Amino acid sequence: MKKFAVFGNPIAQSLSPSIHQMFAEQCGELITYSKILASEEGFAEAVHTFFSDPDAMGCNVTMPFKQQAYALAKVDDQAAQDAKVVNTLMRNHDGTLSGFNTDGIGLVNDLLNHGVTLTGARVLLIGAGGAARGVISPLLQAGVGALCITNRTVAKAERVAEETGSGQVSVIAPESCAEFKPTVIINSTAASLSGGLPLAMTSELLASCHTTYDMVYTATTTPFNEAAEKGGVPTTLDGLGMLVEQAAAAFAIWTGKQPATKAVLTALRKQIT
Ligand code: ATR
Repeated sequence: MKKFAVFGNPIAQSLSPSIHQMFAEQCGELITYSKILASEEGFAEAVHTFFSDPDAMGCNVTMPFKQQAYALAKVDDQAAQDAKVVNTLMRNHDGTLSGFNTDGIGLVNDLLNHGVTLTGARVLLIGAGGAARGVISPLLQAGVGALCITNRTVAKAERVAEETGSGQVSVIAPESCAEFKPTVIINSTAASLSGGLPLAMTSELLASCHTTYDMVYTATTTPFNEAAEKGGVPTTLDGLGMLVEQAAAAFAIWTGKQPATKAVLTALRKQIT
């Protein structure tokens, strides 16, 4: 039986085993997919122990190990190189590990699944951490018209723009974002999880915006999307679909099979509410 796992700390809350079991059933694969709680110092050893089993094909990596996972792997994937983090490891035939960051393609595919046109879109990306870095190259590849980053600490956004996106990413201060006239606003910060907003959702900022995307998800509407809805934004999406789509991309890397995601997302939405 093919073996998979997700490493994290904490890990009990992870929906990845449910998602991958649904994919496996649908694609006729017999798999085990376990949650592995690792310590900061013990992560690398835990990964090596997992892959010492000849049935172990791949694993996902979540907080706080994505950077450590990058260091363990051979990385050709542009999104992973930009972010210097990986969320997916695959064992190669020679025993080495390849690393990928499927979060960005997960975000893009979820937006497209919801009928959001990215070609020509003016995308404002809020945040300048690993989550933001990982989605830049997939958004550019999706053909967005303009991509601008804003961040509470502007210098950090400037560094991200310099280091990724091959000169195609601009930077704007939070208080000036309305001037960019975004059509899509993506929140890569986890501000919603503590009930906060990453920037002021003013009517000037939202005037041109048809879609907001909050990379986190909560049982009810996230504070960021709630503010967008109040401001009249017609499409507001949270990160549950991104979670399912990043998993589908990882599943495809490991098995060569592309699972359908719609029913899985519906099942998970019921599970979390
Ligand atoms: P991740 O790897 O998940 O992106 P990170 O590297 O800690 O996490 O980055 C978090 C990002 O969210 C940062 O850009 C942070 O802003 P600062 O660079 O100014 O710290 C941003 N962030 C987190 N909480 C925020 C909040 N409440 N309001 C605005 N920005 C926030």
